Amino acid sequence: MSLPAILAPSLLAGDHANLGASALVAANSGAPWLHIDIMDGHFVPNLTFGPEVPAALRRAGATQFFDTHLMVENPDAFIEPFAKAGANLLSVHIEPNYDHRRTLARIRELGCQCGIVLNPGTPAAAIESLLDCVDLVLVMTVQPGFGGQPFRRDMLPKLQQVDQWRRERGLKFRLEVDGGIDLASALECRSAGADTFVAGTSFFRAADKITFAKTIAQLP
Ligand code: DX5
Ligand code: ZN
Repeated sequence: MSLPAILAPSLLAGDHANLGASALVAANSGAPWLHIDIMDGHFVPNLTFGPEVPAALRRAGATQFFDTHLMVENPDAFIEPFAKAGANLLSVHIEPNYDHRRTLARIRELGCQCGIVLNPGTPAAAIESLLDCVDLVLVMTVQPGFGGQPFRRDMLPKLQQVDQWRRERGLKFRLEVDGGIDLASALECRSAGADTFVAGTSFFRAADKITFAKTIAQLP
């Protein structure tokens, strides 16, 4: 049994001069999650939002599940500020050198769900031993840092591998994809086991966002 499909519009593709309005556009589509990309200019060659952004969105009334993707070299420095700022889930990359298991446990102690993320160049085996202590695995389908890049179809076998481990071990974590996701690539990822779909460019460009969100929610 697959988990129901969830759409997480990515704020990165919203209007950075009016993030509150973009969060509202995402909410009004019916998408239950909002994906918030945190980039530190070190782990990825770009900068985005500090904890004040989710905190301000909460104050402005945003009630979505905040799916917070930390693309940072030192996650331990940021998990508490983002948890306090209203994050519901904090995802950390496997690639930097820190005590992953301890950081994931700390995220849960802070009252959030925790996720582990793999870059396209990182094999699934890198996270195999952590699958029992996460609420979500995020398989990047582009090299992180920028929106609007083409979907990496060569990530489908990685999704299938993680999904297979999930089934074999009876685990319940969500399997998320991020990067170049539109209705066509989402369908391919769904067939490979994904249940949680980040969409930036394709969502904010869609003329009919309610239909977009409904189509994702009803993926077979
Ligand atoms: C990329 C970010 C993504 C980004 C996806 O580094 O992690 O969340 O917003 O954007 P699209 O959907 O445009 O590829
Ligand atoms: Zn992201």
